[in-house]
Amino acid sequence: MSSRDHWGNKLGFILAAVGSAVGLGNIWKFPYVVGKNGGSAFILIYLACIILVGIPILMAEIYIGKKSQLNPVGALRFFQKGKIPFSLIGYAGVLCGIIILSYYSVITGWICHYLMLSFRGFSGTETEISEIFSHLNATPWLNIAWHTFVMVTVMLILVKGVRQGIEKASKILMPLLGLLLLVLVCYSMTLEGMKDAWHFLTYPDFSKVTGGSFLEALGTSFFTLSLGMGAMITYGSYLKGDVNITKSAVQIASIDTLIAFLAGIVIFPIVFTNNLEPSAGPGLIFKTLPVLFSKMPGGHFVALLFFSLVLFAAITSAISLLEVAVSFVTDEYKCSRIKAIIFMGTLIWLLGIFSAVSSWNVAGTPFLDLFDKIASCYMLPLGGLCTALVFGWAIKTESKYKEIGSSAVTKTLLFAAKYVSPLLLLVVFLKEIGLF
Ligand code: PFF
Repeated sequence: MSSRDHWGNKLGFILAAVGSAVGLGNIWKFPYVVGKNGGSAFILIYLACIILVGIPILMAEIYIGKKSQLNPVGALRFFQKGKIPFSLIGYAGVLCGIIILSYYSVITGWICHYLMLSFRGFSGTETEISEIFSHLNATPWLNIAWHTFVMVTVMLILVKGVRQGIEKASKILMPLLGLLLLVLVCYSMTLEGMKDAWHFLTYPDFSKVTGGSFLEALGTSFFTLSLGMGAMITYGSYLKGDVNITKSAVQIASIDTLIAFLAGIVIFPIVFTNNLEPSAGPGLIFKTLPVLFSKMPGGHFVALLFFSLVLFAAITSAISLLEVAVSFVTDEYKCSRIKAIIFMGTLIWLLGIFSAVSSWNVAGTPFLDLFDKIASCYMLPLGGLCTALVFGWAIKTESKYKEIGSSAVTKTLLFAAKYVSPLLLLVVFLKEIGLF
């Protein structure tokens, strides 16, 4: 245990955790889900989910990791009480990370492709530009090539270790991401559509909210905070010494939410200025935005900044996804880090090929969509529910107070983790599997 690598300092941990949290979920998924669900009313529900479920479970995961100093499987086994094998939750988390990274890397590959195209600039008719995406999707070798590039990059960063690899990459990429985002926000503020976008993002219209919006808000908040699959347990396990877990959880969740909101501030004014509908769906950044980039003054440069931003966000998240699997193999099988990276990286790369070849499907559903559905709709909420139950019910309150403190905020969050989060997650899960 003494040979375990640790974060250099608290800032390193916060940046790495924010790096994991801020990703495609914030910049790609959040804006289109908000667009689809009618804007700010959805944002309010999303915020409630972050406060009632996201922060308490984030706190639980960091606690479980820090206290045990182990990977998700070992960490949950560490808290085992009675006969129920808690380690199963950890195994499911590792599997979930493997599934998510397999398709996350393919989507990150698309971003690389669009970044390359941005160097040349997008030009042509609307149909031609939106066809870039269909062409990319229909060209397996190109998808596989980008997927390989992403996996190899992530593996090379991980080879350097926790402090020299993950922490260093986060310390470079996250401030750069913040800077790019600010430049883009300033740009979007100058657009005519800013007023409509602001109205859309801040004036709640509850008529567009449906039962499904609640599920989508909870699912999205879980995905964007990297919860339910042990990523934050793993990052927590690289913490040592005196760290305020409550404060860290609040900071990570706040920055993640702020970045998702700012991504909306960047994207929606562009959409509104061009009289388009904000509910374009998943194609928003791959089809709609490039068309708009081709039309607007300075669009070439904006496209470059935008796709670099998304790439930085995606890479730091992919790093955390692979680290979960790597820490599991190194801890549980006492194998060297490099061997674990090669083994898990190759396995995930192979699995990713199913998503990269878009014509491969199961009963008409492409593997990418299928994997996303299995992981984010079923495995993450279920993993979160089990983690909350272990944290809330199997660990003594005094031990938690000792490690996390007993301020009023902490006590409220502990209450939420014990009662509110499991209940809400149970509702979501039962709803998802159609039981009510
Ligand atoms: N939080 C990432 C995003 O918003 O894109 C996705 C993610 C990363 C999910 C790491 C889970 C995880 F463990």
